[in-house]
Amino acid sequence: MKASAPGKIILFGEHAVVYGRPALAVPVAQVHADAEVSDSSRAGIWINAPDIDLHAELNSLPSDHPLAAIIREFFPHPVSSPLCPSPNPSTSLRASFGRGDRGEGVEIKISSTIPVASGLGSGAAVSVALIRALSSFLHNPLSDEQISSMAFEIEKLHHGTPSGIDNTVITYARPVFFVKGQPIEIFKVGKPFTIMIADTGISAPTREAVGDVRKLWEADKEKWEKAFDEIGGIAKEARRRIENGEWELIGKLMNQNHELLKGMTVSSPELDRLVDAARSAGALGAKMSGGGRGGNMIALVNAVKAGIAADACISSGAKRVIITQIH
Ligand code: MEV
Repeated sequence: MKASAPGKIILFGEHAVVYGRPALAVPVAQVHADAEVSDSSRAGIWINAPDIDLHAELNSLPSDHPLAAIIREFFPHPVSSPLCPSPNPSTSLRASFGRGDRGEGVEIKISSTIPVASGLGSGAAVSVALIRALSSFLHNPLSDEQISSMAFEIEKLHHGTPSGIDNTVITYARPVFFVKGQPIEIFKVGKPFTIMIADTGISAPTREAVGDVRKLWEADKEKWEKAFDEIGGIAKEARRRIENGEWELIGKLMNQNHELLKGMTVSSPELDRLVDAARSAGALGAKMSGGGRGGNMIALVNAVKAGIAADACISSGAKRVIITQIH
């Protein structure tokens, strides 16, 4: 059983979204995570994730390992395994689904083209693809709502206090206007537009940037609540503009959002250099995207001039670029 999940970018509102302000995010289909679950003649539940150099039997992984945590949701009682022979395999979920006669064990393959810790949602995409593949394999496919909420629990293992935006946009694979704890709102794109995504190549765990923003906020709540309000206002205006097909006008909002994120210390010299390069090459606006400190930036570009902005970013140190249509 195979399943796939896209990457994502945050157009507006990262970090402030952790504090209840709205944010806009869209899926990026050019990168994706894939999971495949199949019967195996080898006993045990084997995980094969070459991208992260993981080849292990489930019982050898610690309980807070995000992949193991997901798999244990589906196989709460181990199937017989060389590390932990099951005294009574009929107690396994697998057996209760009536699949015990098809093979001794389970083989789970996970791969991803989404760079890790780069703001493109690699952790959430792997979770969503794996949850989908496992639930279908066990003939009990979960709804998007169930998948997203299970992936949200795993996001907590990855980065402590997630807002839930990554698992939401990646599960639904549609543009979302997201407010923490509120029902998902899909937004319409009035006229398609083009975004260039450029990668600094620096991996930067979201947990650290989110933790540092929390320290700033704890030290001066009044100041940062105001900054979060400004960012929330930008996200709302951007949604209106995008829905009205006035995408040319969101470039200015991107620039404003980037300045506020810089003030929050989550940008970096490498991100700022790419933002400047894209603007100088004719982008209508540019900003960092996601947790920051490294990872990716995004720029609003005219479709025909996207290549010029991409070349400028490569010359300024970008390790790779993606040009994507938002529709
Ligand atoms: C990460 O993609 C976005 C952040 O706002 C964290 C979150 O919302 O969980 C930085």
